[in-house]
Amino acid sequence: MPILVDSRYRLLRYSGLTACTPNESEVEQALGVRINDDTRVLERAGREILEQTKMQAVLITRGSRGMALFVPGAPTVHIPIFGSDEIADVTGAGDTVMATMALALAAGATFELAARLANYAGGLVVMKRGTATVSAAELRDAVNRDH
Ligand SMILES: Nc1ncnc2c1ncn2[C@@H]1O[C@H](COP(=O)(O)OP(=O)(O)OP(=O)(O)O)[C@@H](O)[C@H]1O
Ligand SMILES: [Mg+2]
Repeated sequence: MPILVDSRYRLLRYSGLTACTPNESEVEQALGVRINDDTRVLERAGREILEQTKMQAVLITRGSRGMALFVPGAPTVHIPIFGSDEIADVTGAGDTVMATMALALAAGATFELAARLANYAGGLVVMKRGTATVSAAELRDAVNRDH
């Protein structure tokens, strides 16, 4: 059973689970670094979290900069945002990403596929006002429109 962690604090206290989905500020806090759109710092930070937590994957969410997926022994996958960055409300974007990633992994997707699906879901939910949800049909339409 996949187990995912999305913890605001003390991320490094979780160990050996399937994946974690910190945003950049949580990564900065956990490691005491500043990422500032520096891909080398981001790269080192992602690898460091993998190492320290022994997770199978680390997905760092980067707001309007999309996300970066780290898996041991594989090159980092950088995923740009889906849709425009003209957003209505980012509330729940991180939760949407984590939930979609978990569902996809439970259904047998690879980490990369799960992250890409989660990125669509995140991009959709920020276009809605308030604490919104994304339906399977909306997710399917978004993927189809993009291909
Ligand atoms: N401005 C934006 N435009 C498009 N997509 C976005 C935007 N902001 C966030 N997203 C999507 O949502 C994902 C998660 O956003 P973010 O990194 O802000 O999460 P978070 O800070 O953990 O959110 P939360 O406050 O819900 O915990 C991003 O990786 C991206 O896919
Ligand atoms: Mg979050």
